[in-house]
Amino acid sequence: MTTKTVVIVGASRGIGKALVENFAKREEFEVIALSRNLEKMQADFGVLSSVKCFEFDLEKDVKNQAEKIFTSIGKVDYLINNAGFLVNKPFEEITGQELQKSYQINLFGVFETVQAIIPHLNPSSSHIVNISSMGGFQGSMKFAGLSAYSTSKAALCSFTELFAEEYKNSSIAMNCLCLGSVQTEMLEEAFPGYQAPLNPAQVSNYISDFTINAHKYMKGKIIPLSLTNP
Ligand SMILES: NC(=O)c1ccc[n+]([C@@H]2O[C@H](COP(=O)([O-])OP(=O)(O)OC[C@H]3O[C@@H](n4cnc5c(N)ncnc54)[C@H](OP(=O)(O)O)[C@@H]3O)[C@@H](O)[C@H]2O)c1
Repeated sequence: MTTKTVVIVGASRGIGKALVENFAKREEFEVIALSRNLEKMQADFGVLSSVKCFEFDLEKDVKNQAEKIFTSIGKVDYLINNAGFLVNKPFEEITGQELQKSYQINLFGVFETVQAIIPHLNPSSSHIVNISSMGGFQGSMKFAGLSAYSTSKAALCSFTELFAEEYKNSSIAMNCLCLGSVQTEMLEEAFPGYQAPLNPAQVSNYISDFTINAHKYMKGKIIPLSLTNP
């Protein structure tokens, strides 16, 4: 059986952690788990022999860090850009630092991670999946307080379309999933007490199947994944 390699950025908690656990159950996968919190990932995933963990910070010299990691792991089939940062504050109270951090983690860091991984992608076929938000999906319901977060996620959607256009004749596919609310620490910290209709394990089932299969049918697509309407 051929082993496939999936890189998951933002793997220490929430949806990223559930994605690592989901792929680790599939025999044919090697899972590369990236986040700032190496100790937590090693504690959580240490028993999973197909998982390798690396410290990775989307706020620090991203391209250099990413190149070092990708050079050490061999060919990559799938990359899931799942890490995210959410600030929920009235527009006039959002600081320059919070705005910068939102774009650094939700867009600029993704941009540089993708630049670094291109030489390491499987030349026959690869799929990059960006995890955006319904808040960044055109025409969706918007929430007060999320101007930094949702604009950075909208930019991630736009990046997906632009990358796909530039790489349309290549073996590299990129798509984007815009998630609705999922019960994670990020959601609880931003909207205390709110109950989401889905948990990370449920969503990771969909995202992992999408990552493995969707590029056979679509490129550069921005897909809403939400039980709410609109
Ligand atoms: N939960 C929701 O309702 C919801 C809805 C729509 C979209 N989303 C999106 O789904 C993705 C996952 O969300 P979640 O709810 O699972 O979030 P979460 O619980 O806050 O987890 C975020 C992950 O991102 C990593 N991360 C944060 N800053 C990082 C940095 N500077 N460098 C590297 N990794 C970093 C964190 O790891 P470390 O802290 O260890 O670095 C963590 O593993 C995010 O992109 C989020 O925007 C979530």
